[in-house]
Amino acid sequence: MRDQAEKLRQLVQKSQSGHRNPIIKQPEVRARVITITSGKGGVGKTNLTVNLALALSALGQKVLIIDADFGLANVDVVLGCSSPYSLQHLLEDKCRITDIIADGPRGIKFMSGGSGIYQLANMSDAQLSRITSQISVFDRWADIILIDTGAGLNRNVLNFVMAADEVVIITTPEPTAITDAYAMMKTYSNHRGAAPVNLVINRVLDMGEGQLVVEKLTKLAQRFLGLKIHSLGFVYEDRNILNAVKTQVPLLLSFPESISTRCIEHIAQRMLYGEIAAKPQGIKGFFTKFLDMIW
Ligand SMILES: Nc1ncnc2c1ncn2[C@@H]1O[C@H](COP(=O)(O)OP(=O)(O)OP(=O)(O)O)[C@@H](O)[C@H]1O
Ligand SMILES: [Mg+2]
Repeated sequence: MRDQAEKLRQLVQKSQSGHRNPIIKQPEVRARVITITSGKGGVGKTNLTVNLALALSALGQKVLIIDADFGLANVDVVLGCSSPYSLQHLLEDKCRITDIIADGPRGIKFMSGGSGIYQLANMSDAQLSRITSQISVFDRWADIILIDTGAGLNRNVLNFVMAADEVVIITTPEPTAITDAYAMMKTYSNHRGAAPVNLVINRVLDMGEGQLVVEKLTKLAQRFLGLKIHSLGFVYEDRNILNAVKTQVPLLLSFPESISTRCIEHIAQRMLYGEIAAKPQGIKGFFTKFLDMIW
């Protein structure tokens, strides 16, 4: 596996220095890779990912969503669009990278990981070089790549959390969800040291409730983990979210004036204009780190 990791690094370097004319160097554009995760399941990751993508797009960003929840992939349901191909088909050479990207509303793009995520661990040399040579288009297509994960502290989720430039942890005010969010922060800080974590509190009944959860988690993380929490904001408990899922038209499009839409727009602004924790490493930087972890 170490040999393969070395091969990957060489492939990445080769494709990054592969300008036809070395004098006219293109400025390198690298997407921000952001993983959206939680400790507890069902707290609102997928709804936040999809609607945040739409809000960021309205602010002029090119956004790509990657559905990395292999077990219960449902970004396509919330987004209301799907692709017949996933990463699995690309790895099996059944299509090109352009085929696995679906066009969603407001120009956002969407890709499903499918079981391809598991296949990455056992790629042949041919598969590795095929995917490495094609994947750089993501940096041109997207300013921001949002990765929607499954829940829980399992390896499948953690690899995405640890390889991303930034992580957003989402919780509800429920004590079980808060405890699980803290457990995720603990695991994160064990791997990534003091790199800050972004936090979103979903399904709050009022601002005070959200503020209390932020204060609680910020104090705990600071005191016991030495971890800095960056609060991105709250989303109110809102039945419109359920109605939007039912009709498969995302909240931001079906209820643009709702209070939860305003909340998500506010989160998008904080993500875009707030302090950015890390210099984006782009899709190849992410991919190299991710493969290093699974090999
Ligand atoms: N702010 C909210 N107000 C009301 N309902 C919400 C809110 N956010 C999410 N929900 C509801 O909670 C349910 C779970 O949401 P979602 O699928 O986004 O969670 P998830 O964290 O992605 O779940 P999983 O861990 O299974 O992937 C959905 O039925 C959704 O309608
Ligand atoms: Mg989900």
